[in-house]
Amino acid sequence: MDLVTIFIDDKEIKVPKGTNLIEAAKLAGVEIPHYCYHPHLSIAGNCRMCQVQVEGQPKLTIGCNTGAVEGMKVRTQASSEAVAEAQRATLEFILINHPLDCTVCDQAGHCKLQDYYYDYNAKPSRFLEEKVHKVKAEELGPEVMYDGERCIVCTRCSRFCEEVPGTSELGVFNRGDNAVIGAYPGKELNNPFSRTVVDLCPVGALTHKRWRFNTRIWYTEEVESICTGCSTGCSVKVSVRDDEIVHVKARLNSEVNKEWLCDEGRYGFDRFQPTQRLTDPMKKSGDGFKKLSFKELEADFKKLSGSSDLDAAIFLSPFLSLEELTVALEFAKKVMGIASPSSSAIAVRLVKRELTEVEAKLISPDRAPNARAGELLGIFSGGDSWRDEAQSRYFSLLDKVRSGSIKRVISIGDFSIGEKELDQKLIDGLTSATISASITPRAPIEVTGSAETGAFNNRAHLYSSVILPGRTVHEKAGTFVNRDKIFQKLKPLLQPPFGALPEWQLLEKIAKANGKSLLPANIGDERALSNWLKSSNTSLYPS
Ligand code: SF4
Ligand code: SF4
Ligand code: FES
Repeated sequence: MDLVTIFIDDKEIKVPKGTNLIEAAKLAGVEIPHYCYHPHLSIAGNCRMCQVQVEGQPKLTIGCNTGAVEGMKVRTQASSEAVAEAQRATLEFILINHPLDCTVCDQAGHCKLQDYYYDYNAKPSRFLEEKVHKVKAEELGPEVMYDGERCIVCTRCSRFCEEVPGTSELGVFNRGDNAVIGAYPGKELNNPFSRTVVDLCPVGALTHKRWRFNTRIWYTEEVESICTGCSTGCSVKVSVRDDEIVHVKARLNSEVNKEWLCDEGRYGFDRFQPTQRLTDPMKKSGDGFKKLSFKELEADFKKLSGSSDLDAAIFLSPFLSLEELTVALEFAKKVMGIASPSSSAIAVRLVKRELTEVEAKLISPDRAPNARAGELLGIFSGGDSWRDEAQSRYFSLLDKVRSGSIKRVISIGDFSIGEKELDQKLIDGLTSATISASITPRAPIEVTGSAETGAFNNRAHLYSSVILPGRTVHEKAGTFVNRDKIFQKLKPLLQPPFGALPEWQLLEKIAKANGKSLLPANIGDERALSNWLKSSNTSLYPS
């Protein structure tokens, strides 16, 4: 890399030649305010907030469009009154026609106009004239609303549509202080990543139809997590209020998703949160289930014990963490007698899907966020065909259950057997097994009196002889490995209901009933589990 030495407010730093001055200043610990600049979009240079002084240049220049060259001396608002004054003036200009909307604006509390006003201006408005009135609450597409008066025409939204999905639905209409963003005639904002524009909007001009006005940001807790919709594993910020997800936003991660999210992932967090929860262990009884204690189920747990993989099947949820998969493999070996992780009796659910050319720019052709961890643990041999291998193992194991040759079955975690695969032969195979156990967060209809509805229903556990109350992917912590083998931490977003236990603890309970132990006795929570795995299997983790 060709490094150059530059000076930001007299501080000497080395940066790659050509680095724009906003990024260079960041390395020197200085924030240059900006609206239109985004590290993964083209440079528009239209907001003029990022002005800096470069020694030797007669006028101020914009930092976003100025590259670092050897010996460059740059002054920001921190050391130049001329720059500070230019930023104050720019901000005053941008705010001239901006409505005093903060009291009702969803962006209040995380708005760059508010932040910069306090940081760089903080003077009362001198504007006495009538503000220009523009479109309010206009639908740009099925999910995104636009407020023309709040818009500062930074064009981040239209550049995104043009440069990322390549669908170019949005453009700037009119000029001067009448300029607004709009959808081109005959088009609407409805591409697979279209709602990303709301995250990119630095002000409150774009809002999600389904989330606007639902809560003020300061009543929420923001958790940095990852989307588990597919193996891309996009970085997200999730706002939670009163144990409910109220907003999902992309998080900047240049290696994974830049700052984009697909709409299915963003709005799909609910699919992992069944409304009807299993909170007690249950055993099949006639056409329904009855509650039993773990103690009362010990005789059933013993039926899972064996010494061969010929009569056994373990279905693993693609939402199990690396740590949970490790415990599941210990369980396979010590309790079910399946010594090899690559046995055909162990499958992680993965079903490939077809993607359009646009979708494939971000979305992975699977809904298996952590299937790649299976490769690290020896479940799959891996390589380029890891999805084919996982899919074929899963379907072959389902066929073995359908054939009636499998007598000991356990499915561990949510969606470990998919709804679409649940045909009559599979139901017969599951119900005729000596023992069929499920760890699931979902309650049977018999308990709740009504069926879970929606596209992401999952009912395979209803055909098990024993069901144990597990957690959803948003109620656990752990390590997830994405399609490019990037390790990321999943943090719990929501509190599990009382009685729902992590899968690894439930497996330990079954193992104990069989006189075995999977983990050292001192492991009481997921952090301890993660630390144990790190220290006992150091080669698993990237250095
Ligand atoms: S709607 Fe938001 S992102 Fe789009 S131009 Fe206006 S301010 Fe920028
Ligand atoms: S691409 Fe995958 S991980 Fe990213 S938001 Fe969409 S579903 Fe989630
Ligand atoms: S960020 Fe440089 S002009 Fe807008």
